Formats: sequence, C-alpha cells, structure tokens
Amino acid sequence: MRIVQNMNTQWFYAPNFSEEYIYQNHVDKKIFKPVCLPHTNIELPYNYFDEADFQFVSCYKKQLFIPKEYKGKKIYLDFEGVMTYAKVYTNGKFVGEHKGGYTPFSIDITEVVRFEQKNMITVVVDSTERSEIPPFGGVIDYLTFGGIYREVSLRVVEPIFITDIFIKTPQVLDLKKIVELEISINNIEQEDLTLVCTLIRDRQEIQQKTQTIQQNVETVRIDNLEHIVLWDMDHPVLYKMVIELYQGEKKLDQVTEQFGFREAIFKKDGFYLNGKKVKLVGLNRHQSYPYVGYAMPKRAQQKDADILKNELGLNMVRTSHYPQSRHFLDRCDEIGLLVFEEIPGWQHIGDEEWQKQVLQDVKSMILRDRNRPSIVIWGVRINESSDHHELYTKTNEIARKLDPTRQTGGVRCIEKSEFLEDVYTMNDFIHSGGNKVLRDQKIVTGFDDYVPYMVTEYNGHMYPTKKFDQEERVLEHALRHARVQNASHMDDHMAGAIGWCAFDYNTHSDFGSGDKICYHGVMDMYRLPKFASYVYRSQKDPKTEIVLEPVTYWSRGDRNGGSITPFVILTNCDSIEFYYGGQSKGKYYPNKKDFAGLSHPPIIMDELSGYWGDRWNEASFVGYINDQEVIRRNFTHNPIPTELSVKADDDTIGMKELDVTRVVVEALDQCGNTMTFLDDPIYITVDGAGELIGPHSLSFIGGSIAFWVKNKGVEGDILIQVESQRFDKKEIMVKVVE
Ligand code: GAL
Repeated sequence: MRIVQNMNTQWFYAPNFSEEYIYQNHVDKKIFKPVCLPHTNIELPYNYFDEADFQFVSCYKKQLFIPKEYKGKKIYLDFEGVMTYAKVYTNGKFVGEHKGGYTPFSIDITEVVRFEQKNMITVVVDSTERSEIPPFGGVIDYLTFGGIYREVSLRVVEPIFITDIFIKTPQVLDLKKIVELEISINNIEQEDLTLVCTLIRDRQEIQQKTQTIQQNVETVRIDNLEHIVLWDMDHPVLYKMVIELYQGEKKLDQVTEQFGFREAIFKKDGFYLNGKKVKLVGLNRHQSYPYVGYAMPKRAQQKDADILKNELGLNMVRTSHYPQSRHFLDRCDEIGLLVFEEIPGWQHIGDEEWQKQVLQDVKSMILRDRNRPSIVIWGVRINESSDHHELYTKTNEIARKLDPTRQTGGVRCIEKSEFLEDVYTMNDFIHSGGNKVLRDQKIVTGFDDYVPYMVTEYNGHMYPTKKFDQEERVLEHALRHARVQNASHMDDHMAGAIGWCAFDYNTHSDFGSGDKICYHGVMDMYRLPKFASYVYRSQKDPKTEIVLEPVTYWSRGDRNGGSITPFVILTNCDSIEFYYGGQSKGKYYPNKKDFAGLSHPPIIMDELSGYWGDRWNEASFVGYINDQEVIRRNFTHNPIPTELSVKADDDTIGMKELDVTRVVVEALDQCGNTMTFLDDPIYITVDGAGELIGPHSLSFIGGSIAFWVKNKGVEGDILIQVESQRFDKKEIMVKVVE
C-alpha cells in the first residue's frame, strides 16, 4: 500500500554550497542551521534590497530513516516547488534534478537507499536567474526568490502503482451524470490487475465500479449517476474518487482525488458556468509576501484565496504568471473561486532549450491541476510575448491533448496577434483616465466576427498607487478600477476582466517605484486594503456584507486647492445620508448613469460646499437599505491617536508543520478610522510557542501594518506584544495546538 509522509521538518540549511557537502553523511552544525519547509533561502527587507541577494546557490540536508518494510517497494521524494534549479543527492549519489521553480517533480531513490539506517538527502538549490529557464532570459516584473519554498514528501509504493488520474465529467448538464476516469498504471505486464473506483461525497459512498485492467491508461466510466450536485461559485460541492488497485485479492495501491461536476465554457458572448452566463470579475495574484518571498505555508496560501473571494467578493483570479501553491488552488476549489492558471514567463521567449522547458511546464501544470473544478482556462502563452507560431502551436496541442475539457488562452498585449488559442485573452491598458476605458474586442483581434474574449489585465503600471497617496490619487485609482469593471459589464462580448492586481509585490529594479516594489495592488503587500479594493468589495450582495467606504481621509486640505469634491462613496447601500457638523445635508444615491454596468455604482457627491479657510467639521454617513438605516460611518475633524488595534487572523494555529498567522496592527482615531499619515514605529515582541517573521521594529505604512508569526514545533501560547510611543501597549495571544 502507498505511504505518503510529509518531509517538511528537521531540514538543515546552508546559505552557500561546496562540493563536499554532497558527500557528507553528517550535518555540520557549524555550517548548517535547522529549518522547516516552506523555506526561503534568505529573508529580505520589505523594500530597498539588492535583487542579487537571493540569487545564490544554497544547500539543504535531511536525514531520512528507511525501515526494512520498504524493501521491494519504490521510494520517491516528491518536491512541490524548488526555486529555481535543484540537484538531488542521496547518500552522496546523484539521483535527479529539476529545472524551474513552479512545477513539482519526483525523484526515485529506490536504488540508493540503505534500509534500517539513516539516509542523507542533500539538495543543491541554484536560485540564480538562469537564462535557460523560464521565466528568465529577459527582464521580468516580479521576483522569484529562492529555496525549497514549497513542501516535500516521501512516497512509498508497490512496484505496480497508480501514476496518474484524470477525472472528466462529460455532459454535466444532463439529468444523469457521468464520471470518466483515465487511470495510468506504471506496469501492467502483471496478470490479474483490477481497479475499484468509489465515488464519495461527504464520506458517503455514492457508487462503485470494478474493472479489470487491460492497458496502461485504463478508462473507467461510471454513468447513470443520480442526485449529483453541481460545483459552482455559491455551492462549490466537491466529490472524491477513491481508486484502489488490486492484484488478485491483494491491494497494491489507493489514491483519492477530489473533483467537482461542472461545465465551464467561454463563448463569443461571454463565459458560462453550468449553462449560466457569469461576468468574470477578478484580480491577478502574485504569490509573494514581505520578507519570506514565496515561502508561505498552507494557511497563508488559503488566506489569499479567502481574501479574494470572501473579502473582495471576486469570482476569478489569474495566477500570474506561473502555477501557484496547491494550497491556494485547493482553497479555490473549496470556496468556488475560478482560476486562470498559466505557465511561467514574462514577455521574453528564449532559445530552443528554453522553449523545450516551456513545453515541459505546460505538461507539468496541466498534469498537476487538471482535476480542479476551479480552473477554467489554461494560459499556454508566455505572458505578453510576441507571436511564435511554432511554439504556441505546440503548447496548444499539448494542452488540448492532456485536457480536452478546458479551453486554452494565452495572454497577449499586442493587438491582432495570432490566435491559436480558444479564448482571446488580452491585457488592455488603454485606460489612463478619461473616456477610453476598454477596447472593442474587434479592434483588438482584427477579426470580423466575435470570438471568446477576456481582459486579463488593466490599470497596474498605468496608475501605481500607494495606500497613503494623496486623496486625489487614491480616489482616481479606485475610479479607474470602477470604470473598467463597469465597461466590462456593459460589453456583452467580454467574458470579464481581471485587474492588475490584487497585492503590491516585490520586483526588479527595471520596474516599480525604485524601492523594489510595484505598488499596483488594490491591497498592499501585507494584504491591507487601499480604497480601490472597496470598488470590488462594495459589489457584494449586502446580504453577505454591508459596505460603506467613503474615499476620504476626511480633511480639508489633502487634495489640491482645498477641494473635497467629487466626494465618492463606495457602498452597496441603496442610498446614504450625509451629516456635516451634525446636520443632515441630504440623501445621495448610486450613480447609475455613469456606472450602469455595476450592481452597486459608487455614490458621487459633486456639490459639497465649503472653501479653504472655512472651519472644518465632523461628518457622518448613514447607509440605508429599503429605507432602513443599516450602517453608519463617523469622521472626526480633529483626529487624535486613540487606539492601537492588534488583531490576529487566527486564534489557533497548528504545531506539527510550519504554520503562520498574520497580525494586523492599526492606528485608530476616536471614530475608529485608520490614521493614514501616522507613521510612528512599533516594536514587536513574540514569546512562548512562536516566533516573529521579519523585523521586530516596523513603522505604520498608511496608518496600518501587519506581520506574520510562526510556530516553532511546540504546543502552547504565542504571546504577541506591540508597543509604540503614543498608544498603550497591546498584548494578544495565539494558541499553538497539536
Ligand atoms: C503587464 C504585465 C504584468 C505587470 C503589469 C503592470 O504588462 O503582464 O506582469 O508588469 O504589466 O501593469
């Protein structure tokens, strides 16, 4: 039977490499320090670091005891992601290598392990930007960081085992459903092999099918399924298929795959999920975080999906520009967030060797993720590259062969580029304020007829905006997101639009604001909101969350000329009433004229009176739904630092594997509003069962900041203290449990 064992603790790491490390059967503790995975090869400052800092060769070692019971079985190390080039050794012998930091790989160590003994695994990790490996070779607007930054496991299987499972659900809209399985077995020379496939929902068996194996890739069809519930964005119902492999009576292997019944199609007139037209509203996500780059474990990965779907109310994400963590995608499956997944790359196409790697990336991405209901399209072009007939003919061919159930896309920014994919996916950066918001697809494609079409980026570098920028700028940033989404909703031949981007991210010096950050997010790198994020959030059904966010620092003089108009409120209320100095100034309604496409257009107040030199006063905004007051926001004209808010995302984290939670710190005034321009330092102390990630002293950025704490392998309480000059000390606790 298959054994899968996590191998993420008790690694040893040296931030350098010397040939002799490979042959050392011990760990030299003077050079190697204990670490857990996911691990970054170096912790970086938030900004202004040298982008060469993470580009070096490092070494990881781990002792692995292999019991005698594993004799006669096949033994693999499964790596989920190592940036960028890994060479693996066992007991000093080379056992395999992998190029590319975003795709998983397995190393067969069967022949070299010693039984009933400790075996030494050594991984040499080259995190330099090697030009023969995508995305490298040209310039790239993001950093790739380094290290064994995703999980590793040990897999022990019988010599005959299941190597792959592809689950298809054809004609899913018919009353009676079908599941079609393509199950690959490594070796069918043997006699008397059977498969038992059991369909399960919520631990309940629904149907079972047994079939004798005739070929390496065996097709098993289970049909006439009744009472199956479809997977969709509101009810992401997941099923499991348990596949057992028998030889005679002996069970050789068992694998469980999760999947959903759903149909996702891009048509000329938009995107359809289970036959229903859905306008796609999304943002691009980079998988990077402050300090640790890519190396964040499951909980942080899941949290990002939760932020996108539940906090911002999006229905789609693009994993720009590479396959992302399985934990992020698992969460997308679980919560019903649709995904556009794409291969690694950025504008540049390299030589033949490089292109071979691209084909391999397409293959690895699709084989890893083709059973996920959340993924509705594969990106099989290098983001924003020029046409390459030969390469993209091949990437499309591979994608269609490995997964005939999904359409392909390929993100471009050049008009009239060659259309070899199923969906024309375009980065449309035409909007730079003013009236031009999105291009007509026929202008982009140059075709006479419509094709399936989706906008995969907008805004971004056209209007980089920091959380604490001047009010006029943060307002225009928000309005640009609103205008593009509005235009996308008004265009029936557009499946939807995915904005650039969800979170600010570290980048190379060729891009960004000179401090190694692209401030393109609707949230900052800590996932804290800018006003633009409320454009999305305020589109949520008020039954889920009532949103009322005036785009203001509530001051007389932050905008040019002492103006406060246009005063914009992002809300899903029917109307708001504005009180100034305690007096009602009337009711205001969503601007349906300029934002007819949005479910909840912004409220725009153009005629607020007052001049530079007038007294400034307090304000209240009262939100109404069905004539009932449902929410109220108060703003003082005289904000005083009143409360230091310190909140952890989770009360409890796990103990066994690396686990983290984010702690958000905010400087609040007497009305509970963030004090945007307060940039005092805070001092963080973390004691007990956890440790701080990143520096102990931080400054507020735009009145708020966050940090992550991690467990350290023991049960107990993590005590977190935050001190600052102007607020009382705050203490919170996070529990670490088994
Ligand atoms: C696009 C690119 C993104 C990002 C964005 C900034 O051209 O695909 O990766 O650089 O511009 O707006």
